[in-house]
Amino acid sequence: MQFENIENSNLVKQLQDFNQSHVLQFWNELAPTQRKQLINQLETFDFQLIDSLTQLASAESPWEKIAQAAEVPPAITLAQQSPDGLHYQHARATGTEALAAGKVGMILVAGGQGTRLGFDHPKGMFPIGPVSNRTLYQMHFEQVLGRSRQFGVRIPLYVMTSPPTHDETTQFLTDHQFFGMDPADVNIFCQGVMPAVDKDGKLLLETKSSVFVSPDGHGGTLEALARSGCLQDAKTRGIEHLFYGQVDNPLIQTCDPALVGYHLNSGSEMTSQVVRKTDWSQKVGNVVSIDGKVQIIEYSDLPEQYAKQTNPDGSLKLWAGSIAVHLFKLDFLERSLTQADSLPFHLANKKVPFLDASGTRVEPDQPNAIKFERFIFDLLPLAENAIVCEVKAEDGFCAVKNAPPAKSETPEHVKNAISDLHGRWLQAAGVELASGIIVEINPTFAADVETLKGKIPTGTKIAESTYFK
Ligand code: UD1
Repeated sequence: MQFENIENSNLVKQLQDFNQSHVLQFWNELAPTQRKQLINQLETFDFQLIDSLTQLASAESPWEKIAQAAEVPPAITLAQQSPDGLHYQHARATGTEALAAGKVGMILVAGGQGTRLGFDHPKGMFPIGPVSNRTLYQMHFEQVLGRSRQFGVRIPLYVMTSPPTHDETTQFLTDHQFFGMDPADVNIFCQGVMPAVDKDGKLLLETKSSVFVSPDGHGGTLEALARSGCLQDAKTRGIEHLFYGQVDNPLIQTCDPALVGYHLNSGSEMTSQVVRKTDWSQKVGNVVSIDGKVQIIEYSDLPEQYAKQTNPDGSLKLWAGSIAVHLFKLDFLERSLTQADSLPFHLANKKVPFLDASGTRVEPDQPNAIKFERFIFDLLPLAENAIVCEVKAEDGFCAVKNAPPAKSETPEHVKNAISDLHGRWLQAAGVELASGIIVEINPTFAADVETLKGKIPTGTKIAESTYFK
């Protein structure tokens, strides 16, 4: 086929070499601006990389072998975190000092599209406050604000979006004046994208002038932090550690001083918070140790027989489930950026609508495409002294993932979990709660149970659903 007025002959050759010329099949029908759009997009692709990733799809899965070698990771378990114990108090003191010295910033990843939740906007805009109806974004922003006030510092927040969520997120946060945070402390940065291929390794056309691309996974955080200048911004502010969480979990113990302290006291370059898995099939990443290096095997990759292994007392051997809360030493992120391929790509079979050779849009009912994503947790094995810290799920992990009638991780579960947690805080602060009421505490009122104790007189009785703000 002859392509009219195509200037980049090198690109045409590359497309031929990598068997991708079909992306130009509608070229002669395109208007000049559409041609420019298509060329601009194709010029960003690394065809060699796409080709080698496609080869991986037919390679034997490495997970069986990796799972065979998986042992229990070095962990600070709940048993070691007794609030009266020296270990905990020392950690809390170290963490408090680092937070008060302004050495900790926060990354919130919000680039996913929340397809499972069936919500047509960025997930962060989903209302979840059990009494207040606050959105996930508002909850996270106020958590950062609550900690900033608690420690008398400005904690910068870096929010990662993706091309499909960026504009709407920016507009929403601006319209809501960053929920009280100083705009100078909020940085919204956008992750990159990757094309998908069909089972024959061919790129898929989304329109006649664009190839289908999707967010490159939260592993894209690393490059996007650097590219956007956020890493430099953090350095300039004197930030030494970045706390990382996902927008879907409103229970995150944002910048928890004890967690920061354990991370610092262990000299860890990357610390991950985990829950004790309740069931071998729980859909959380499995934090393990392989040849002395901490690593996460995603739930979908761990073969059943290894997930089911038990200790003599019947408990799960691979017990540590990732809640996707991490703490990174900034130096470590910078070092990882200089290591080529520090993050491998993972492959996922997905349904991707595309234009067929006649230009007709096809909506597949079965997975027809391979998507490529990087996962931030793959940095763990590269980190020195990486540790995991256990948290009770009811205190730190309940993510919104699914729409009803799913049996777990629905908005209703999460609202109940927030009310239950805040109810326990109130009871710990000596408040009497009437049964069946719903409660919610804004973190700018109290960021944790310790701060709450100074705010409400012991013996206070609450008779109806209440939002403390
Ligand atoms: C994820 C973790 C899993 C962990 C669980 C805890 C992965 C691959 N797995 O599972 O190990 O136990 O959370 O809840 O992450 N995101 C982006 N950009 C992307 C893709 C995702 O920012 O390109 C963000 C999403 O907005 C979301 C988070 O990453 O906040 C998680 O993504 P999701 O695909 O929902 O992961 P899970 O399967 O829930």
